[in-house]
Amino acid sequence: MNTKIILRNRPNQTVTQDNFECIDADIEPLKYGQVLVLNQWLSLDPYVRGRMSERKSYAPSMELGDVVMGEGIGTVINSQSDQFKAGDKVIGMLGWQTHAVMNAAAIKLIPEAPFSDTWLLGAAGMPGITAWIGMMEICKPQAGETLLITSAAGSVGSIAGQLAKVQGANVVGVAGSEEKCAYVQDVLNFDHCLSYKHSSWPSNLNKHAPNGIDGLFENVGGALFDSLIPQMNPFSRIAICGLIAEGIEEHFHSINLRTLLANRMLIQGFIVSDHVSRWREIQKQLIGLLVEQKIRVHEKITEGIQNAPQTFIDLLEGKCLGKQIIKLS
Ligand SMILES: NC(=O)c1ccc[n+]([C@@H]2O[C@H](COP(=O)([O-])OP(=O)(O)OC[C@H]3O[C@@H](n4cnc5c(N)ncnc54)[C@H](OP(=O)(O)O)[C@@H]3O)[C@@H](O)[C@H]2O)c1
Repeated sequence: MNTKIILRNRPNQTVTQDNFECIDADIEPLKYGQVLVLNQWLSLDPYVRGRMSERKSYAPSMELGDVVMGEGIGTVINSQSDQFKAGDKVIGMLGWQTHAVMNAAAIKLIPEAPFSDTWLLGAAGMPGITAWIGMMEICKPQAGETLLITSAAGSVGSIAGQLAKVQGANVVGVAGSEEKCAYVQDVLNFDHCLSYKHSSWPSNLNKHAPNGIDGLFENVGGALFDSLIPQMNPFSRIAICGLIAEGIEEHFHSINLRTLLANRMLIQGFIVSDHVSRWREIQKQLIGLLVEQKIRVHEKITEGIQNAPQTFIDLLEGKCLGKQIIKLS
């Protein structure tokens, strides 16, 4: 029997438990070329919020009744494919469910790595690769420059900031609570971290980035992003990674084109899935940094598929620190 979480209805503004339904269903028989995976670890990620809505985006929406999408790691327990055998550990879009019938082409063997498999869903997986592309290839931090990362305590932001530290930059994080900021400074070794909910925001930014901002790794958007633009230096770079504060609402930003021209600024949006051909190469570099402990990881593991919806809601509402993983078996 497969226990799965399906999309029951679409959220209006905020995501609620009512948008999901947990059901048991028979496992369909395998066709040639398919495998049955016993799912062990499920990654929760904010992009699922976008797929729950019908709004046109860079990827198609989920249909009502679909298993909620998500990347996972599991073990093949039955195979009708020449490429996989029972016992193989695989990674792919296994979904919010305990078992997944997958086409062989849609999964990969997990790479050898000297740490927990779950890191392949976080720092050494899609979120880490996202951080790498935005930070190393768009923000391009140089020693002595000031780099700012929003949602700095999150899965992507925590890695992006540590990559900038490895390059010798002065790294400033922005996060939603004093507790998150303490973690970002004390454990991740960012130079500073400021709470955007503190009464001194954004005036305290001038104190910790007195020479302006050379690179901005943007995870949030909305008014927070607008407040940072006047601080950007000549020849600064902005990587637009995510706009979590904007939900599905259109937010019109007040960027003055003259500011862009006068400062010769670069602003670039990017989507990690456009760079799939480079994932293994970037992943190797991330694994190296993790092994050398130049990047630290924080993950929260919650047990049971039935807890995926509430953990996902908590993630969107800023109640979580680091990478959110559901343990399934
Ligand atoms: N471009 C790509 O290919 C790509 C790939 C992966 C992820 N992303 C994007 O990257 C961003 C980070 O993803 P993640 O997986 O690392 O998530 P995350 O940062 O671990 O979790 C989301 C965090 O966003 C913050 N947040 C939520 N609402 C906010 C608001 N109104 N204002 C300010 N902060 C808010 C909360 O932290 P606080 O408590 O600090 O507010 C929350 O913990 C997301 O926008 C995601 O969509 C993009």
